[in-house]
Amino acid sequence: MREVELSAEERTYSARLMRINHCGEVCAQALYHGQALTARDTQTSAVMQQAAAEERDHLSWCEQRIKELDSHVSLLNPFWYAASFSMGALAGLLGDKINLGFIAATEQEVCRHLDEHLEKLPPGDEKSRSILRQMRDDESRHATTAIEHGGSHYPEPIKSIMRQVSRLMTRSTYWV
Ligand SMILES: [Fe+2]
Ligand SMILES: [Fe+2]
Repeated sequence: MREVELSAEERTYSARLMRINHCGEVCAQALYHGQALTARDTQTSAVMQQAAAEERDHLSWCEQRIKELDSHVSLLNPFWYAASFSMGALAGLLGDKINLGFIAATEQEVCRHLDEHLEKLPPGDEKSRSILRQMRDDESRHATTAIEHGGSHYPEPIKSIMRQVSRLMTRSTYWV
């Protein structure tokens, strides 16, 4: 891939954005692990396993990119893993409709967020941008698949709470 020399500031900024995306992928792992523990329907878990495999790719792409940018993953990852695992396990307990609906709502929020980051990345950082583009395609498909398998559409107030939690994550991991 054509690589444009990034300035020190641009590298730092890109690394911060990619650290947020990496933490998001840590949360995705946690969510899938949590719901796999409690969800019972086997068809659902087969669908989830496919998505979870793609999430593992996302996680390693982000981690690799952060290393290339000479930065580190978030120190808060264990905290966000634990929080997301609990949410996933709870959603799994509440049955397929709610569980898949939760996945869909989360993935939709991630797509919205990735669009933002695609805008914000330094113009020369095509490497990070191509990672985020592929992730966006996958996340959008995860959302659609979850709805197609019977996930319920979440009401706006719940989505708004989810957005606030994700804002808390993005604001904290930007720095550490
Ligand atoms: Fe992902
Ligand atoms: Fe996803």
